Amino acid sequence: MSSPKRKSQPSSDNEFESAKKPRITDENSDNDAAIEIPITAPNGAPDSHINVEAAIAYWSSTEATVSGVLGGYPQVSRIDLQGSSNFLAKLRRQSKHFPPSKKLRRAVDCGAGIGRITAGFLSKAAETVDIVEPVKSFTDQIKGKENVGEVYNVGLEAWHPDQDGDGPYDLIWNQWCLGQLTDAHLVEYLKRLPRVLSQGGWIIVKENLSNHHLNVDVYDETDSSVTRTDAKFRKLFEDANLTLVSTELQKGFPKGLYPVRAYALQPR
Ligand SMILES: C[S@@+](CC[C@H](N)C(=O)[O-])C[C@H]1O[C@@H](n2cnc3c(N)ncnc32)[C@H](O)[C@@H]1O
Repeated sequence: MSSPKRKSQPSSDNEFESAKKPRITDENSDNDAAIEIPITAPNGAPDSHINVEAAIAYWSSTEATVSGVLGGYPQVSRIDLQGSSNFLAKLRRQSKHFPPSKKLRRAVDCGAGIGRITAGFLSKAAETVDIVEPVKSFTDQIKGKENVGEVYNVGLEAWHPDQDGDGPYDLIWNQWCLGQLTDAHLVEYLKRLPRVLSQGGWIIVKENLSNHHLNVDVYDETDSSVTRTDAKFRKLFEDANLTLVSTELQKGFPKGLYPVRAYALQPR
């Protein structure tokens, strides 16, 4: 799933049944716990199985709470937000354009869910935060909240801020949602962003990483998403003509969850 996800033990007896998918134990993983990972789809690349309608149906039937958007792990939210805040603070300490003393002008929370990141972090860092999120029951929780600007009820593959005159953005935050896009859609999306990014601004990607022992991406039919390897992310950033200016592994998550990495990107 694109949310935090434990692969070692099912959280309920029927979790594996509902996944209807063979799993293997990855004993070569960096993680201490033995990790159960779905076998990659036998026919075609993992991302070729992404089905946008199935994904939206899954998320639309998910409760509009922190637990819902975090796959049943609401307890990781606080440490995740703290890690993100620290990551941005380090970037800003080295920035000529956005020193820590001033608020950012406009940020955008992409694949925002119920606005967990906006409420917990972005709305304190920026004067205005726009929202991009396809599921209306999620964005209904966000509208009218402090410092929230425009709300776009659309998937990222169909969001064209460059054509629609949105932004400009000092910060474009993408977390636990890019697995919903195919590789091709992700590269096209990332290529659109520099046109709405302020000079010196950052595109942030913070996502689960596949630690499959064959070093491959993994498709998850639960929410019709892929979990990519670190190498795949770096290749897609290259393909999108973006430079990786900083990257950091999230620390302090419970053992057995996928590792989570934040990447800060700027146009080449
Ligand atoms: C795991 S939740 C994460 C929400 C939020 N980023 C957070 O960290 O709290 C995944 C989100 O991606 C959204 N999503 C699904 N398909 C998407 C798409 N094609 N483009 C953007 N977001 C999508 C879901 O509706 C859901 O809100």
